[in-house]
Amino acid sequence: MELIDALKWRYATKKMNGKKISDQDLNTIVEAAHLAPSSSGLQPFEIFVITDRDLLAKIQPIASGQSQITDCSALLVFAAWDNYSEEKIKSIFDYTLSERGLPADAMDAYRERLWAAYGSRDAEKNFEHAARQAYIAFGIAIAAAAELKIDSTPMEGFDNEKLDQLLDLPAKGLKSVTLLPLGYRDEENDWLVNLKKVRRPKESYIHYLS
Ligand SMILES: Cc1cc2nc3c(=O)[nH]c(=O)nc-3n(C[C@H](O)[C@H](O)[C@H](O)COP(=O)(O)O)c2cc1C
Repeated sequence: MELIDALKWRYATKKMNGKKISDQDLNTIVEAAHLAPSSSGLQPFEIFVITDRDLLAKIQPIASGQSQITDCSALLVFAAWDNYSEEKIKSIFDYTLSERGLPADAMDAYRERLWAAYGSRDAEKNFEHAARQAYIAFGIAIAAAAELKIDSTPMEGFDNEKLDQLLDLPAKGLKSVTLLPLGYRDEENDWLVNLKKVRRPKESYIHYLS
């Protein structure tokens, strides 16, 4: 399916039917998120792929009881670094340089400039920046799922602090950002499935300055 057709087909599924998606499709969606671009290539977030039904049952009440959490096939949790640190940035840069076979000091000047900016900001601001990177991967995962005709529900409607505690994220230096249940729509019971997709008229918010 072409991307635009896939994006027209997808919608924020309100009711899923519990059917399992194949491991291959799940891997493709995760791979798409993995290939997302990020500022300075830091990928300052982690993705949890949850299929454990008991854990999903514990997450559902934290997500306002939304049924997609337990009726999905897999739940992706996007969690961003709670702050940047010089060590984390260095380790990513070192890895990139070694993968590319470049001298270990090839990016020192860039890395030092980056740390001069990030190191002087407070943790909340750095988390918000990291979370924006997680949103890019989140969006790409949504599009990748749609291309595979797999339904998903982008979600911010959950108690971040409770989820962080449940998944022990503070100990990992992470804070949850978004959820993405993946599965198949329950056409008969989803109130949204046949409603028109509505977007603001393009001319009201897209500006061509040519
Ligand atoms: C960041 C984000 C958070 C959202 N949170 C929820 C949510 O918690 N529950 C839900 O049912 N839909 C949620 N939505 C779905 C939006 O309401 C939906 O994407 C929007 O109305 C556009 O409709 P469409 O996705 O069906 O095209 C969220 C969407 C985004 C992008």
